[in-house]
Amino acid sequence: MDIAALTETAKAMVAPGKGILAIDESHGTCKKRFDALGVECNEESRRTYRQLLITADGLNEGVSGLILFDETLRQKTDDGTAFPAELAKRGMLPGIKVDMGAKDLALHAGEKVTEGLTGLRERLAEYKELGAKFAKWRAVITIGDNMPTDACIMGNAHGLARYAALCQEAGIVPMVEPEIILEGDHTMEICYEVSVKTWKMLFAQLAQQGVAPEGTILKTSMILPGKACPQQADLDTIANKTIEGLKEGVPDNIGGIVFLSGGQGDVEATERLNRMNQIGGFPWALSFSYGRSIQRPALKIWSDNQENVKEAQAALAKRGKFNGLAALGKYSTDME
Ligand code: G3H
Repeated sequence: MDIAALTETAKAMVAPGKGILAIDESHGTCKKRFDALGVECNEESRRTYRQLLITADGLNEGVSGLILFDETLRQKTDDGTAFPAELAKRGMLPGIKVDMGAKDLALHAGEKVTEGLTGLRERLAEYKELGAKFAKWRAVITIGDNMPTDACIMGNAHGLARYAALCQEAGIVPMVEPEIILEGDHTMEICYEVSVKTWKMLFAQLAQQGVAPEGTILKTSMILPGKACPQQADLDTIANKTIEGLKEGVPDNIGGIVFLSGGQGDVEATERLNRMNQIGGFPWALSFSYGRSIQRPALKIWSDNQENVKEAQAALAKRGKFNGLAALGKYSTDME
């Protein structure tokens, strides 16, 4: 394992003022998002839309890399440039989602375990050939009555660690993503408890599998009250509690931490990251790996009129830039 090369890639992913844009929606998720806006979802419409995202001028100001889906990694721009090569030309790193989705966890109704280890070594070798520098594997942890169980947290942590080890063996930086789902009426205290427990179990499993923390990126959710919890929290409480929980559950020498947006509003996700970086006092780079909260305005503009490519690209680059500033603690809502 080339730890120096992995560390260098991880550092580039969370370089000061930079974060990751996720455009790795599966066909099913992409169809849902397109359907909601009346856009047909097929291979060509997905290519056209993702080309718009990848070729947005100025996106590289705040974005260090993009997570692609298997199909997207193989697609090309109108002029025949492979998407990973186009990203490299623009100074951004191509990443790839490699899990095969969250499936029902046996004997644990309502809980999920992420699959995709079978054949992963061979897939990673091909992804590396195609230009992927980092990968993503998402595990889903749901809070509810008697949930999450240790079986769910541990099963997912073990899968994440096995995936991460295979990535590092292949020279690809693993982004390990345990997402605590925002839906639910749980309190912020419960989210704190579940998040810290999940991170601790995950890092114990990563260590057991021999995964080098400095060549790994943690992608996670912020510590938030459930969407339906009557007791919502203010900006400072969210920022402070998230930092406190991360300090308790995550080792100092991880390559970096990025957040998913997971149903937060566009400005909310930016503002919360910004506040954490203003508070500071933690050992890792704290940045973003947002999907919806960066893409939303651009997707809306494009779906209203597919001629509006430049306008959609400007909206995308703007959210990328604002989140890049938030990674430095230099964003302000006045900029909106
Ligand atoms: O795995 C989650 C996605 O890559 C991030 O998407 O920011 O829309 O939650 P999101």
